[in-house]
Amino acid sequence: MTAKLIDGKAIAASIRNQLVAEVAAFRESTNIVPKLAAVLVGDDPASQVYVRNKEQACAKIGMASELFRLPATTSQAELLELVATLNSDRSVHGILVQLPLPRHINETTVLDAVTPLKDVDCFHPENVGLMVQGRPRFKPCTPHGVQVLLQESGTVVDGAHVVVLGRSEIVGKPVAMMLVQKGETANATVTICHSRTRNLVEIIRSADILIAAIGKPEFVTAEMVKPGAVVIDVGINRVGDRLVGDVAFEPVSQVAAAITPVPGGVGPMTIAMLLKNTLTAARIQS
Ligand code: GUN
Repeated sequence: MTAKLIDGKAIAASIRNQLVAEVAAFRESTNIVPKLAAVLVGDDPASQVYVRNKEQACAKIGMASELFRLPATTSQAELLELVATLNSDRSVHGILVQLPLPRHINETTVLDAVTPLKDVDCFHPENVGLMVQGRPRFKPCTPHGVQVLLQESGTVVDGAHVVVLGRSEIVGKPVAMMLVQKGETANATVTICHSRTRNLVEIIRSADILIAAIGKPEFVTAEMVKPGAVVIDVGINRVGDRLVGDVAFEPVSQVAAAITPVPGGVGPMTIAMLLKNTLTAARIQS
């Protein structure tokens, strides 16, 4: 079998096109320009690229953005002060604090300080709680991107066994919660695997849909994948000068029915969903 490629780049582009019209209509009817504030602390090279991509993406669809760059030596109190200023700035609708933060700053404390109505990452416990209860204010960007990829590729999620590799707060836990919900592109039976899982390979091999988000380059090999499975690779790992996912793409694409590439799979979807959330944030604050 040679897998169908799930083209995240193309699907994200079509979502951004749709957003152009929605943003224009919102601006027309409210006179408000939706605005994202991105906060970058330190000079992690990958984070710099992500933040720049997010800013460019805003500009292309008619939204405003502002980048707040702080030195790596910024104290937690200074960062919290900036977050408080952005919380009360009525021209800012979405706030994104780029992770990871320097080690001397407590990420949870900072993320909890973002006012829930501007929490376009859906990291605040109030928004996570609403999402888990099936009444989302925002949907977390990468998990929502994964869900849309499944939907757009025509993958049947209803009743399927989804195996999620990784239990992170950003991807593993929330994607599992979204796909187990009642609703469209959901109703799955979900297993979350992690570093302490017994019989890991056996469980992975039982997946109809495999979502890899463990941050280990090419961890998933062809022998671990059930023939005909749909494989979504959330990993972005730098190996030398190559970017690879958590899935060994070539061999696994001989076994899977459909697969996302890295890059060009989940990555562009995360940004598209962030833009969607920023428009939602502007709507609920207007
Ligand atoms: N770092 C890696 N992924 C993300 C994300 O989705 N949001 C933020 N804020 N930081 C990240």
